[in-house]
Amino acid sequence: MKSDGKPIVLITRSLPEEGIKGLREFAHLDIWEGEGPMPRDILLERVRNADGLIPMLSDRVDGHLLDSGPKLRAIANYAVGYDNISLDEATRRSIPVMNTPGVLTDATADIAMSLLLSVSRRVVESDRFVREGRFKVWSPKLLLGKDLRGRTLGIIGAGKIGQAVMERARGFGLNIVYHSRNRNEAVEEKFSARYLSLEDLLRGSDIISLHVPLTEETRHMIGERELSIMKRSAILINTARGPVIDEKALSKALRERRVHGAGLDVYEEEPKVYPGLMDLDNVVLLPHLGSATEGTRIEMAMLASEGVMDVLSGRRPKHCLNPEVLEDG
Ligand code: GLV
Ligand code: GLV
Repeated sequence: MKSDGKPIVLITRSLPEEGIKGLREFAHLDIWEGEGPMPRDILLERVRNADGLIPMLSDRVDGHLLDSGPKLRAIANYAVGYDNISLDEATRRSIPVMNTPGVLTDATADIAMSLLLSVSRRVVESDRFVREGRFKVWSPKLLLGKDLRGRTLGIIGAGKIGQAVMERARGFGLNIVYHSRNRNEAVEEKFSARYLSLEDLLRGSDIISLHVPLTEETRHMIGERELSIMKRSAILINTARGPVIDEKALSKALRERRVHGAGLDVYEEEPKVYPGLMDLDNVVLLPHLGSATEGTRIEMAMLASEGVMDVLSGRRPKHCLNPEVLEDG
């Protein structure tokens, strides 16, 4: 809090101005404008005076950081995933934590479909082929891909994003099977989706797309064994979180053609990419672009801003991940 009574909100990267206009009037904003992520030591220093914090998914919000910010009363992650935040540590200190669900569902589902299509039809490999001057003549067997209609898409994780991918996939004539912690009969009806055990989904799907949050349960959910029971013709898409896949095992399976292809938007040790993946033609690699549209990034900034303003004004925030710390639970 400054002497004028306005709170201080620390934002660890420059966000679209349109999305933080409201917050700028409400609070003093301390925004990291440097190249790249806010260095940890600077973050630890500047969080000292902050009443509110808007971190990126690349910032680790742990007990040490929370102890460095004794005034913190609100944290709004600039992401829907919040595996970067120790929720328990925030709860123990009674700090509400918020995320940005909903506003990035379509953008992320679109990126999953982009990867699905790119890998199935070898779009990126073909672009390279043309740029290398190798397109000499139309040929009946040039760069053949996979048909989609009638094939089976296995969705792992049937939350908002998983469902948005199902909706899109129906338009391509894909049959939908899914696995999630809980069966969801509404989803089954809406998308003619069939619930399968993880094992049956892995064995039976032509394309597998991951839409689970990263938790202790989902870490390395797809490892050597899981890859070994997938079809040799299968394509794996990950727009969720890198550590859900054992990248080393995936790289080996792709190299040995035990799995046909993969499309990845996220990595185990982001922004590092497992070196074995870099020289493979049957994998498409994106730099974590799930929510990367102009409109979505503005809406995420608005939602994060609203969350911080709600909590700092004593209102109930819309998307609180630890509502037990709010006064009325
Ligand atoms: C992006 O990965 C997000 O969780 O918002
Ligand atoms: C995203 O909002 C999800 O819950 O999948």
